[in-house]
Amino acid sequence: MSICEYKPGLENIPATQSSISFVDGQQGILEYRGINIEELGQYSSFLETSYLLIWGGLPTEEELAEFEHEIRYHRRLKYRIRDMMKCFPESGHPMDALQACAAALGLFYSRRALDNPAYIRAAVVRLLAKIPTMVAAFQLMRKGNDPVQPRDDLDYSANFLYMLNEREPDPLAARIFDICLILHAEHTINASTFSAMVTASTLTDPYAVVASAVGTLAGPLHGGANEEVIEMLEEIGSVDNVHAYLDSCLERKAKIMGFGHRVYKVKDPRATILQDLAEQLFEKFGRDEYYDIAVALEQAVAEKLGHKGIYPNVDFYSGLVYRKMGIPTDLFTPVFAIARVAGWLAHWKEQLAENRIFRPTQIYTGARNAPYIPSEKRQSTQDKDLLAGLIAE
Ligand code: SDX
Repeated sequence: MSICEYKPGLENIPATQSSISFVDGQQGILEYRGINIEELGQYSSFLETSYLLIWGGLPTEEELAEFEHEIRYHRRLKYRIRDMMKCFPESGHPMDALQACAAALGLFYSRRALDNPAYIRAAVVRLLAKIPTMVAAFQLMRKGNDPVQPRDDLDYSANFLYMLNEREPDPLAARIFDICLILHAEHTINASTFSAMVTASTLTDPYAVVASAVGTLAGPLHGGANEEVIEMLEEIGSVDNVHAYLDSCLERKAKIMGFGHRVYKVKDPRATILQDLAEQLFEKFGRDEYYDIAVALEQAVAEKLGHKGIYPNVDFYSGLVYRKMGIPTDLFTPVFAIARVAGWLAHWKEQLAENRIFRPTQIYTGARNAPYIPSEKRQSTQDKDLLAGLIAE
């Protein structure tokens, strides 16, 4: 490859060296620190997996107990953060609220001691502990209710579902939610992690690192796709409409949400596990009317786009799991963020260990030595109709 070759989306360009996770996109394999995702989903907990990702090895029983204790202790939000949230518009997207809250933590804990392991540990604990509380608090506040305080007798996932729904969750639902967090915790150099690494490389504070990653995760080509999947299934409406819907997408060259991946050319292993988790929930709590549509769509896409390696990704079945737990659609991406904080922090720490500021180059395609034209001689470059529409909005 020539040094000046431009690859849109930096496809296949290594942005770093990392020992955090591994993906084999041809075989559908995902490992965290060398451990298979299926095994972690079966035996681990989200906090244990977070520890593994961030500190590089599974914790001893004592280390895990201490880590869980610290997280419990730091779950509460400062009243100023809660007051700030009260001023957010109810109609605002929860990802925007989360981004603002994550950034606001920097106002309280801004001292940057990036070479001090105790500072790193405290930032990890605060972010993992407080992000779920922020998501749940915004959900209650936008309904006009006071947020529910965390409960120290509940574990990480059960406590989140409790704060969100104001009642203790069913143990199966809480365990399945915890597995969902494990599955979403890390995924090599995806867009939001790259964003976190770029921000980290300036040696700014970890709250800014996570805030920038939350903003990146929100987009519909990335974490935001899980919401759009449900909207798509709603629009399809019935299994009979699946083929017509797919044909119309292909004709318009529209992307089918929850499908395709830069790295996976087979079904994302996380989608396989999530589909199984959805079925476990349906067995206990009843089927979801959209599930049959999803399965039919997966089949139809495989027939039409399988030759291009387009199969379900992590965002395709996750929403069906969350819906069964009573989680509103626009909280699906914040739930993804709760999990991915672990991966972002692992990459933040790895970046700091061998930091050099990210500063890529570009291939310039614009004019050179252009004259400065006096205002009375300029021709407008704006679309006037479009501008009028924007001003009226
Ligand atoms: C996540 O990177 C990560 O690891 C992300 C993630 C993580 O854990 O962090 O796994 C989480 O972000 C999952 C992806 C969620 N996004 C979606 O579900 C949105 C729909 N999918 C796509 O838009 C797309 O597949 C991407 C964004 C996921 C990947 O984009 P790429 O690698 O830039 O691929 P592309 O858009 O250039 O498409 C390549 C070809 C094109 O066809 P040709 O022009 O070559 O003929 O595949 C086609 C595309 O049209 N294609 C699709 C498609 N995805 C790709 N066609 C229809 N529907 C799709 N979903």
